[in-house]
Amino acid sequence: MSYVPGLQGVPATRSSISFLDGQQGILTYRGYPIVELARHSTFEETAYLLFHGELPGQAELEAFDRELRNNRRVKYNVREIMKFLPTDGHPMEMLQTCVASLGMFYPGSERMTADGAGPTEEFVNSTAIKILASMATLVGMWNHIRRGDDPVLPRTDLTYAENFLYMMTEREPDPVEARIMDACLVLHAEHTINASTFAALVCGSTLAAPNLVVASAIGTLAGPLHGGANQRVLEMLREIGSPEKAESWLEKRLANKQVVWGFGHREYKVKDPRADILQGMLEQLREHRHGELSPLYDIAKALEAAAAERLAHKGVHPNVDFYSGVLYDAMGIPEDQFTPIFAIARTAGWLAHWKEQLAQNRIYRPTQEYVGAPTRSYLPMDLRVSGHH
Ligand code: COA
Repeated sequence: MSYVPGLQGVPATRSSISFLDGQQGILTYRGYPIVELARHSTFEETAYLLFHGELPGQAELEAFDRELRNNRRVKYNVREIMKFLPTDGHPMEMLQTCVASLGMFYPGSERMTADGAGPTEEFVNSTAIKILASMATLVGMWNHIRRGDDPVLPRTDLTYAENFLYMMTEREPDPVEARIMDACLVLHAEHTINASTFAALVCGSTLAAPNLVVASAIGTLAGPLHGGANQRVLEMLREIGSPEKAESWLEKRLANKQVVWGFGHREYKVKDPRADILQGMLEQLREHRHGELSPLYDIAKALEAAAAERLAHKGVHPNVDFYSGVLYDAMGIPEDQFTPIFAIARTAGWLAHWKEQLAQNRIYRPTQEYVGAPTRSYLPMDLRVSGHH
Protein backbone atom coordinates (compact mmCIF):
# COMPACT_ATOMS: atom_id res chain seq x y z
CA MET A 1 0.00 0.00 0.00
CA SER A 2 1.44 3.38 -0.85
CA TYR A 3 0.74 6.80 0.53
CA VAL A 4 -2.17 8.65 -1.12
CA PRO A 5 -2.07 12.45 -0.53
CA GLY A 6 -5.30 13.66 1.01
CA LEU A 7 -6.38 9.99 1.26
CA GLN A 8 -8.19 10.61 -2.02
CA GLY A 9 -10.26 7.57 -2.87
CA VAL A 10 -9.16 5.65 0.23
CA PRO A 11 -12.13 4.25 2.19
CA ALA A 12 -11.66 5.29 5.83
CA THR A 13 -14.93 3.94 7.20
CA ARG A 14 -18.00 1.90 6.36
CA SER A 15 -21.19 3.88 6.79
CA SER A 16 -24.90 3.73 6.06
CA ILE A 17 -25.62 7.41 6.72
CA SER A 18 -25.20 9.18 3.38
CA PHE A 19 -24.27 8.42 -0.21
CA LEU A 20 -22.70 10.64 -2.85
CA ASP A 21 -22.25 10.10 -6.57
CA GLY A 22 -20.03 12.94 -7.71
CA GLN A 23 -20.27 12.08 -11.41
CA GLN A 24 -24.05 12.27 -11.45
CA GLY A 25 -24.49 14.89 -8.72
CA ILE A 26 -26.52 12.67 -6.41
CA LEU A 27 -26.55 12.97 -2.62
CA THR A 28 -28.80 10.91 -0.36
CA TYR A 29 -29.26 10.78 3.42
CA ARG A 30 -30.20 7.26 4.51
CA GLY A 31 -31.28 6.69 0.92
CA TYR A 32 -33.48 9.79 0.60
CA PRO A 33 -32.39 12.25 -2.13
CA ILE A 34 -31.27 15.61 -0.79
CA VAL A 35 -33.57 17.40 -3.24
CA GLU A 36 -36.63 15.72 -1.68
CA LEU A 37 -35.45 16.31 1.87
CA ALA A 38 -34.72 19.98 1.20
CA ARG A 39 -38.19 20.37 -0.26
CA HIS A 40 -40.29 18.31 2.16
CA SER A 41 -38.39 17.67 5.38
CA THR A 42 -37.36 19.87 8.30
CA PHE A 43 -34.02 20.10 10.09
CA GLU A 44 -35.49 18.37 13.15
CA GLU A 45 -36.80 15.47 11.08
CA THR A 46 -33.58 15.22 9.04
CA ALA A 47 -31.48 15.17 12.22
CA TYR A 48 -33.68 12.34 13.52
CA LEU A 49 -33.30 10.49 10.22
CA LEU A 50 -29.52 10.81 10.25
CA PHE A 51 -29.20 9.85 13.89
CA HIS A 52 -31.71 6.98 14.07
CA GLY A 53 -31.63 5.71 10.49
CA GLU A 54 -35.33 6.04 9.60
CA LEU A 55 -37.82 8.85 9.20
CA PRO A 56 -39.69 9.31 12.49
CA GLY A 57 -43.38 8.68 13.04
CA GLN A 58 -45.48 11.59 14.36
CA ALA A 59 -45.03 10.72 18.05
CA GLU A 60 -41.29 10.06 17.62
CA LEU A 61 -40.78 13.35 15.84
CA GLU A 62 -42.73 15.25 18.48
CA ALA A 63 -40.71 13.69 21.30
CA PHE A 64 -37.39 14.41 19.51
CA ASP A 65 -38.42 17.98 18.74
CA ARG A 66 -39.60 18.54 22.35
CA GLU A 67 -36.23 17.39 23.66
CA LEU A 68 -34.43 19.71 21.23
CA ARG A 69 -36.57 22.66 22.33
CA ASN A 70 -36.15 21.89 26.05
CA ASN A 71 -32.38 21.75 25.72
CA ARG A 72 -31.86 25.10 24.00
CA ARG A 73 -30.68 26.94 27.10
CA VAL A 74 -27.02 26.68 28.05
CA LYS A 75 -25.53 27.26 31.49
CA TYR A 76 -24.80 30.89 32.24
CA ASN A 77 -21.14 29.96 32.81
CA VAL A 78 -20.85 29.45 29.08
CA ARG A 79 -22.12 32.99 28.59
CA GLU A 80 -19.46 34.15 31.07
CA ILE A 81 -16.77 32.43 28.99
CA MET A 82 -18.05 34.25 25.91
CA LYS A 83 -17.84 37.60 27.66
CA PHE A 84 -14.10 37.19 28.03
CA LEU A 85 -13.43 36.31 24.41
CA PRO A 86 -12.14 39.08 22.12
CA THR A 87 -15.12 40.64 20.36
CA ASP A 88 -13.28 40.62 17.03
CA GLY A 89 -12.34 36.93 17.34
CA HIS A 90 -13.74 34.62 14.70
CA PRO A 91 -17.07 32.99 15.69
CA MET A 92 -15.73 29.55 14.71
CA GLU A 93 -13.06 29.94 17.42
CA MET A 94 -15.77 31.01 19.88
CA LEU A 95 -17.85 28.01 18.87
CA GLN A 96 -15.03 25.53 19.28
CA THR A 97 -14.12 26.98 22.68
CA CYS A 98 -17.70 26.95 23.97
CA VAL A 99 -18.57 23.50 22.62
CA ALA A 100 -15.35 22.15 24.12
CA SER A 101 -16.45 23.58 27.47
CA LEU A 102 -19.89 21.98 27.43
CA GLY A 103 -18.57 18.69 28.78
CA MET A 104 -17.48 20.44 31.96
CA PHE A 105 -20.86 22.01 32.54
CA TYR A 106 -22.79 18.90 31.61
CA PRO A 107 -20.59 16.15 33.00
CA GLY A 108 -21.15 12.50 32.25
CA SER A 109 -18.32 11.72 29.87
CA GLU A 110 -17.09 9.10 32.34
CA ARG A 111 -20.06 7.15 31.05
CA MET A 112 -18.31 6.97 27.68
CA THR A 113 -16.16 4.16 28.97
CA ALA A 114 -18.41 2.61 31.62
CA ASP A 115 -16.96 -0.85 32.32
CA GLY A 116 -15.06 -0.61 29.05
CA ALA A 117 -18.34 -1.47 27.33
CA GLY A 118 -18.91 1.95 25.76
CA PRO A 119 -21.62 4.45 26.64
CA THR A 120 -25.27 3.61 27.16
CA GLU A 121 -27.80 4.36 24.46
CA GLU A 122 -29.45 6.82 26.85
CA PHE A 123 -26.18 8.79 27.23
CA VAL A 124 -25.55 8.78 23.47
CA ASN A 125 -29.04 10.05 22.66
CA SER A 126 -29.34 12.63 25.43
CA THR A 127 -25.91 14.21 24.93
CA ALA A 128 -26.39 14.33 21.17
CA ILE A 129 -29.65 16.24 21.64
CA LYS A 130 -28.06 18.59 24.18
CA ILE A 131 -25.16 19.42 21.87
CA LEU A 132 -27.33 19.83 18.78
CA ALA A 133 -29.80 22.04 20.66
CA SER A 134 -26.96 24.18 22.08
CA MET A 135 -25.31 24.91 18.74
CA ALA A 136 -27.81 27.49 17.48
CA THR A 137 -27.98 29.04 20.95
CA LEU A 138 -24.21 29.55 21.10
CA VAL A 139 -24.00 31.10 17.64
CA GLY A 140 -27.02 33.32 18.34
CA MET A 141 -25.72 34.42 21.76
CA TRP A 142 -22.37 35.43 20.34
CA ASN A 143 -24.01 37.73 17.82
CA HIS A 144 -25.17 39.90 20.73
CA ILE A 145 -22.44 39.36 23.30
CA ARG A 146 -19.70 40.47 20.92
CA ARG A 147 -21.54 43.78 20.50
CA GLY A 148 -21.66 44.20 24.25
CA ASP A 149 -25.36 43.38 24.50
CA ASP A 150 -27.13 40.80 26.62
CA PRO A 151 -27.79 37.63 24.65
CA VAL A 152 -31.32 36.86 23.52
CA LEU A 153 -32.79 33.89 25.33
CA PRO A 154 -33.84 30.96 23.17
CA ARG A 155 -37.57 30.35 22.74
CA THR A 156 -39.31 27.00 22.93
CA ASP A 157 -42.33 28.00 20.84
CA LEU A 158 -40.29 28.19 17.63
CA THR A 159 -38.81 25.57 15.31
CA TYR A 160 -35.04 25.08 15.28
CA ALA A 161 -34.58 27.36 12.25
CA GLU A 162 -37.06 29.98 13.47
CA ASN A 163 -35.44 30.14 16.89
CA PHE A 164 -32.00 30.49 15.33
CA LEU A 165 -33.12 33.40 13.16
CA TYR A 166 -34.88 34.96 16.14
CA MET A 167 -31.77 34.65 18.31
CA MET A 168 -29.59 36.15 15.58
CA THR A 169 -31.80 39.11 14.73
CA GLU A 170 -34.07 39.54 17.78
CA ARG A 171 -36.99 39.88 15.34
CA GLU A 172 -39.99 37.62 14.79
CA PRO A 173 -38.75 35.39 11.96
CA ASP A 174 -40.25 35.93 8.53
CA PRO A 175 -41.93 32.59 7.61
CA VAL A 176 -40.37 32.43 4.13
CA GLU A 177 -36.89 33.19 5.47
CA ALA A 178 -37.34 30.67 8.27
CA ARG A 179 -38.34 27.99 5.79
CA ILE A 180 -35.29 28.82 3.67
CA MET A 181 -33.01 28.66 6.69
CA ASP A 182 -34.60 25.34 7.65
CA ALA A 183 -33.87 23.94 4.17
CA CYS A 184 -30.29 25.31 4.35
CA LEU A 185 -29.75 23.39 7.59
CA VAL A 186 -31.10 20.24 5.91
CA LEU A 187 -28.73 20.74 2.96
CA HIS A 188 -25.67 21.13 5.17
CA ALA A 189 -26.50 18.43 7.71
CA GLU A 190 -24.42 15.63 6.25
CA HIS A 191 -21.98 14.85 3.47
CA THR A 192 -20.33 11.43 3.79
CA ILE A 193 -16.77 11.38 5.08
CA ASN A 194 -15.52 14.92 4.47
CA ALA A 195 -12.58 16.41 6.40
CA SER A 196 -14.57 17.52 9.47
CA THR A 197 -16.52 14.27 9.72
CA PHE A 198 -13.25 12.39 9.46
CA ALA A 199 -11.85 14.53 12.28
CA ALA A 200 -14.95 13.71 14.34
CA LEU A 201 -14.46 10.01 13.69
CA VAL A 202 -10.78 10.10 14.64
CA CYS A 203 -11.57 11.91 17.89
CA GLY A 204 -14.60 9.69 18.57
CA SER A 205 -12.55 6.54 18.01
CA THR A 206 -10.55 7.34 21.15
CA LEU A 207 -13.84 7.31 23.12
CA ALA A 208 -13.43 11.02 23.88
CA ALA A 209 -16.63 12.77 25.03
CA PRO A 210 -19.05 13.85 22.27
CA ASN A 211 -18.60 17.58 22.87
CA LEU A 212 -14.88 17.09 22.20
CA VAL A 213 -15.73 15.10 19.08
CA VAL A 214 -17.81 18.04 17.82
CA ALA A 215 -15.13 20.54 18.89
CA SER A 216 -12.55 18.64 16.78
CA ALA A 217 -14.91 18.74 13.83
CA ILE A 218 -15.58 22.47 14.28
CA GLY A 219 -11.86 23.24 14.14
CA THR A 220 -11.57 21.22 10.95
CA LEU A 221 -14.59 22.83 9.34
CA ALA A 222 -13.17 26.30 10.02
CA GLY A 223 -10.51 26.12 7.31
CA PRO A 224 -11.03 27.95 4.00
CA LEU A 225 -10.71 24.76 1.96
CA HIS A 226 -13.73 23.32 3.80
CA GLY A 227 -16.50 25.26 5.59
CA GLY A 228 -14.63 28.55 5.66
CA ALA A 229 -15.10 28.96 1.91
CA ASN A 230 -18.63 30.43 2.16
CA GLN A 231 -17.39 33.55 3.93
CA ARG A 232 -14.63 33.98 1.38
CA VAL A 233 -17.11 33.72 -1.49
CA LEU A 234 -18.82 36.85 -0.24
CA GLU A 235 -15.57 38.75 0.18
CA MET A 236 -14.66 37.70 -3.36
CA LEU A 237 -17.99 38.86 -4.82
CA ARG A 238 -17.60 42.23 -3.12
CA GLU A 239 -14.10 42.52 -4.53
CA ILE A 240 -15.41 41.83 -8.06
CA GLY A 241 -17.88 44.67 -7.56
CA SER A 242 -20.21 44.30 -10.55
CA PRO A 243 -21.37 41.57 -12.97
CA GLU A 244 -19.50 43.11 -15.94
CA LYS A 245 -16.19 42.76 -14.11
CA ALA A 246 -16.62 39.04 -13.33
CA GLU A 247 -14.93 37.77 -16.47
CA SER A 248 -11.79 39.89 -16.29
CA TRP A 249 -11.50 39.29 -12.56
CA LEU A 250 -11.66 35.53 -13.14
CA GLU A 251 -9.05 35.64 -15.89
CA LYS A 252 -6.63 37.49 -13.66
CA ARG A 253 -7.34 35.21 -10.75
CA LEU A 254 -6.69 32.05 -12.76
CA ALA A 255 -3.59 33.55 -14.36
CA ASN A 256 -2.27 34.10 -10.83
CA LYS A 257 -3.04 30.45 -10.05
CA GLN A 258 -5.41 31.38 -7.24
CA VAL A 259 -8.50 29.33 -6.36
CA VAL A 260 -11.94 30.70 -6.95
CA TRP A 261 -13.82 30.33 -3.69
CA GLY A 262 -17.00 28.26 -3.82
CA PHE A 263 -15.84 26.28 -6.86
CA GLY A 264 -14.51 22.75 -7.10
CA HIS A 265 -14.97 19.69 -5.00
CA ARG A 266 -12.98 16.54 -4.35
CA GLU A 267 -16.04 14.40 -5.05
CA TYR A 268 -18.33 16.35 -7.38
CA LYS A 269 -17.30 16.65 -10.99
CA VAL A 270 -20.64 18.23 -11.96
CA LYS A 271 -22.46 21.10 -10.25
CA ASP A 272 -23.07 20.26 -6.60
CA PRO A 273 -26.81 19.46 -6.31
CA ARG A 274 -26.93 21.58 -3.16
CA ALA A 275 -25.70 24.62 -5.10
CA ASP A 276 -28.67 24.24 -7.45
CA ILE A 277 -31.13 24.05 -4.56
CA LEU A 278 -29.60 27.11 -2.91
CA GLN A 279 -29.83 29.04 -6.13
CA GLY A 280 -33.52 28.10 -6.31
CA MET A 281 -33.94 29.52 -2.81
CA LEU A 282 -32.33 32.78 -3.85
CA GLU A 283 -34.86 33.02 -6.66
CA GLN A 284 -37.64 32.27 -4.17
CA LEU A 285 -36.39 34.99 -1.85
CA ARG A 286 -36.15 37.44 -4.72
CA GLU A 287 -39.78 36.73 -5.59
CA HIS A 288 -40.82 37.09 -1.94
CA ARG A 289 -39.14 40.51 -1.93
CA HIS A 290 -40.84 41.61 -5.14
CA GLY A 291 -37.73 41.31 -7.27
CA GLU A 292 -35.38 43.07 -4.84
CA LEU A 293 -32.32 41.05 -3.89
CA SER A 294 -28.69 41.68 -3.18
CA PRO A 295 -26.60 42.78 -6.21
CA LEU A 296 -24.12 40.13 -5.09
CA TYR A 297 -26.44 37.51 -6.54
CA ASP A 298 -26.06 39.00 -10.03
CA ILE A 299 -22.29 39.07 -9.62
CA ALA A 300 -22.36 35.42 -8.52
CA LYS A 301 -24.37 34.42 -11.57
CA ALA A 302 -22.00 36.31 -13.88
CA LEU A 303 -19.03 34.61 -12.25
CA GLU A 304 -20.64 31.20 -12.65
CA ALA A 305 -21.23 31.90 -16.35
CA ALA A 306 -17.63 33.06 -16.84
CA ALA A 307 -16.29 30.04 -14.96
CA ALA A 308 -18.34 27.65 -17.09
CA GLU A 309 -15.97 28.40 -19.99
CA ARG A 310 -12.74 28.25 -18.02
CA LEU A 311 -13.20 25.71 -15.23
CA ALA A 312 -16.04 23.34 -16.17
CA HIS A 313 -13.81 21.21 -18.44
CA LYS A 314 -11.73 20.36 -15.35
CA GLY A 315 -14.87 19.23 -13.52
CA VAL A 316 -14.80 22.41 -11.43
CA HIS A 317 -18.31 23.80 -10.80
CA PRO A 318 -20.04 25.76 -8.02
CA ASN A 319 -20.15 23.90 -4.72
CA VAL A 320 -22.46 24.28 -1.72
CA ASP A 321 -20.60 27.35 -0.48
CA PHE A 322 -21.02 29.36 -3.64
CA TYR A 323 -24.61 30.49 -3.14
CA SER A 324 -25.10 29.90 0.60
CA GLY A 325 -23.22 33.07 1.55
CA VAL A 326 -25.24 35.27 -0.78
CA LEU A 327 -28.41 33.80 0.70
CA TYR A 328 -27.36 34.32 4.33
CA ASP A 329 -26.19 37.83 3.55
CA ALA A 330 -29.59 38.60 2.04
CA MET A 331 -31.13 37.44 5.34
CA GLY A 332 -29.00 39.88 7.33
CA ILE A 333 -26.51 37.39 8.77
CA PRO A 334 -22.96 38.71 9.25
CA GLU A 335 -20.35 37.13 6.98
CA ASP A 336 -18.27 35.62 9.73
CA GLN A 337 -21.33 33.71 10.99
CA PHE A 338 -21.78 31.76 7.74
CA THR A 339 -19.41 28.96 8.66
CA PRO A 340 -20.95 28.63 12.15
CA ILE A 341 -24.31 28.01 10.43
CA PHE A 342 -22.63 25.23 8.49
CA ALA A 343 -21.36 23.87 11.82
CA ILE A 344 -24.82 23.99 13.42
CA ALA A 345 -26.25 21.91 10.59
CA ARG A 346 -23.33 19.52 10.24
CA THR A 347 -23.45 18.69 13.96
CA ALA A 348 -26.38 16.41 13.05
CA GLY A 349 -24.14 14.47 10.65
CA TRP A 350 -21.08 14.46 12.93
CA LEU A 351 -23.10 13.03 15.81
CA ALA A 352 -24.78 10.45 13.57
CA HIS A 353 -21.33 9.23 12.48
CA TRP A 354 -20.12 9.28 16.07
CA LYS A 355 -23.04 7.07 17.12
CA GLU A 356 -22.63 4.73 14.16
CA GLN A 357 -18.94 4.27 14.85
CA LEU A 358 -19.43 3.56 18.54
CA ALA A 359 -21.29 0.38 17.64
CA GLN A 360 -18.07 -1.15 16.28
CA ASN A 361 -15.36 1.12 17.51
CA ARG A 362 -11.68 0.71 16.67
CA ILE A 363 -9.19 3.48 17.40
CA TYR A 364 -7.79 5.16 14.26
CA ARG A 365 -4.09 4.56 13.98
CA PRO A 366 -2.91 4.73 10.37
CA THR A 367 0.66 4.26 9.34
CA GLN A 368 3.09 6.51 7.45
CA GLU A 369 5.85 6.40 4.88
CA TYR A 370 8.94 7.62 6.66
CA VAL A 371 11.13 9.84 4.50
CA GLY A 372 13.38 11.36 7.19
CA ALA A 373 16.97 10.82 8.29
CA PRO A 374 18.25 7.30 8.97
CA THR A 375 18.86 6.43 12.62
CA ARG A 376 21.99 8.30 13.75
CA SER A 377 23.95 9.18 16.88
CA TYR A 378 23.27 12.28 18.91
CA LEU A 379 25.79 15.04 18.14
CA PRO A 380 27.30 17.09 20.96
CA MET A 381 27.04 20.85 20.39
CA ASP A 382 30.73 21.38 19.55
CA LEU A 383 30.59 18.87 16.69
CA ARG A 384 27.54 20.38 14.98
CA VAL A 385 27.92 22.41 11.82
CA SER A 386 25.73 25.52 12.10
CA GLY A 387 23.82 27.16 9.28
CA HIS A 388 21.95 23.99 8.28
CA HIS A 389 18.51 25.38 9.00
N1 COA B 1 -10.62 27.49 -8.55
C1 COA B 1 -9.80 27.32 -9.60
N2 COA B 1 -9.30 26.13 -9.98
C2 COA B 1 -9.69 25.05 -9.28
C3 COA B 1 -10.56 25.15 -8.19
C4 COA B 1 -11.04 26.44 -7.84
N3 COA B 1 -11.86 26.61 -6.80
N4 COA B 1 -10.77 23.93 -7.67
C5 COA B 1 -10.05 23.09 -8.42
N5 COA B 1 -9.40 23.77 -9.38
C6 COA B 1 -8.50 23.20 -10.42
C7 COA B 1 -7.15 22.86 -9.80
O1 COA B 1 -6.28 23.97 -9.88
C8 COA B 1 -6.70 21.71 -10.66
O2 COA B 1 -6.25 22.24 -11.88
P1 COA B 1 -4.99 21.58 -12.67
O3 COA B 1 -5.42 20.18 -12.97
O4 COA B 1 -4.83 22.45 -13.86
O5 COA B 1 -3.84 21.65 -11.71
C9 COA B 1 -7.99 20.96 -10.94
O6 COA B 1 -9.02 21.95 -10.83
C10 COA B 1 -8.28 19.81 -9.98
O7 COA B 1 -8.36 20.33 -8.66
P2 COA B 1 -7.71 19.66 -7.35
O8 COA B 1 -6.89 20.70 -6.64
O9 COA B 1 -7.04 18.36 -7.69
O10 COA B 1 -8.99 19.34 -6.52
P3 COA B 1 -9.03 18.83 -5.00
O11 COA B 1 -9.99 17.70 -4.98
O12 COA B 1 -7.68 18.56 -4.45
O13 COA B 1 -9.57 20.11 -4.22
C11 COA B 1 -11.02 21.69 -3.24
C12 COA B 1 -10.90 20.31 -3.89
C13 COA B 1 -12.42 21.85 -2.69
C14 COA B 1 -10.02 21.79 -2.06
C15 COA B 1 -10.70 22.76 -4.30
O14 COA B 1 -11.62 22.64 -5.37
C16 COA B 1 -10.73 24.17 -3.73
O15 COA B 1 -9.74 24.63 -3.17
N6 COA B 1 -11.88 24.90 -3.86
C17 COA B 1 -12.04 26.23 -3.33
C18 COA B 1 -12.42 26.19 -1.87
C19 COA B 1 -13.86 25.79 -1.65
O16 COA B 1 -14.77 26.33 -2.24
N7 COA B 1 -14.04 24.83 -0.74
C20 COA B 1 -15.36 24.36 -0.35
C21 COA B 1 -15.57 22.93 -0.75
S1 COA B 1 -17.24 22.45 -0.38
